[in-house]
Amino acid sequence: MSETTPHRLRILLVGARGTLGKAVANELGKRHDIIKAGRGTGDLKLNLTDPAGMVAAMAEMGPVDAVICAAGEVAFAPLAQIRPATISESVYALGLTNKLLGQVNLALAAREVLRDGGSITLTGGILSEHPIVSGSSASMVNGALEGFVRGAAVEMPRGIRINLVSPSVLAESMDAYGPFFRGFEPVPAARVALAFSRSVEGPQTGQVYRVV
Ligand SMILES: NC(=O)c1ccc[n+]([C@@H]2O[C@H](COP(=O)([O-])OP(=O)(O)OC[C@H]3O[C@@H](n4cnc5c(N)ncnc54)[C@H](OP(=O)(O)O)[C@@H]3O)[C@@H](O)[C@H]2O)c1
Repeated sequence: MSETTPHRLRILLVGARGTLGKAVANELGKRHDIIKAGRGTGDLKLNLTDPAGMVAAMAEMGPVDAVICAAGEVAFAPLAQIRPATISESVYALGLTNKLLGQVNLALAAREVLRDGGSITLTGGILSEHPIVSGSSASMVNGALEGFVRGAAVEMPRGIRINLVSPSVLAESMDAYGPFFRGFEPVPAARVALAFSRSVEGPQTGQVYRVV
């Protein structure tokens, strides 16, 4: 292998079985080795809401060059139905504990298994900038993820990079989500996967890759 030949990376992909995750696995799997992770399926069982279990599963997995998350759940509910509440009682609990803190914890745990110069890529979404009715949780969580990635990027050790991919609604999800996203231009998951490629295989850090 010459010095200019890109080397084959070992990549952990959380949510590999999902709509977005399958496209990311397809794109990066052409050139790299993908460790597919999910709650119940894949090469590695890992739950974003179980930090201790996540750390243990990643330690067992061993060193990697990139950690990607293409998972994360939020609740959709009209604001009129949302009452003030503690986190555990709140409609916002799912988004805060699963998509937000789950991905933040994954990024924090990833530092222990990433090789020097490795990368972390998380998933946000268009609702941080372009709201829909019933989407206040997703708007809040996606915005918070953008802030986390910018803030964490300047403190990551050993040249580790961290970025966020923020897609519009996926073309493949329009059967389910179409009525909530009238007027939004859906993007094919394969095009969103290219942003993950830029994050993993490119040089940037602290970036939000918007795919609209
Ligand atoms: N679909 C869209 O239009 C769209 C648009 C913008 C942003 N996004 C974002 O993209 C991400 C993926 O969306 P998607 O539509 O591809 O979802 P999806 O089809 O429901 O797939 C989710 C995947 O994540 C895994 N997963 C779910 N919860 C998990 C957890 N707590 N810990 C570990 N793995 C978990 C699931 O696997 P197991 O069941 O095996 O755990 C599954 O493979 C989400 O953050 C979503 O908000 C989606």
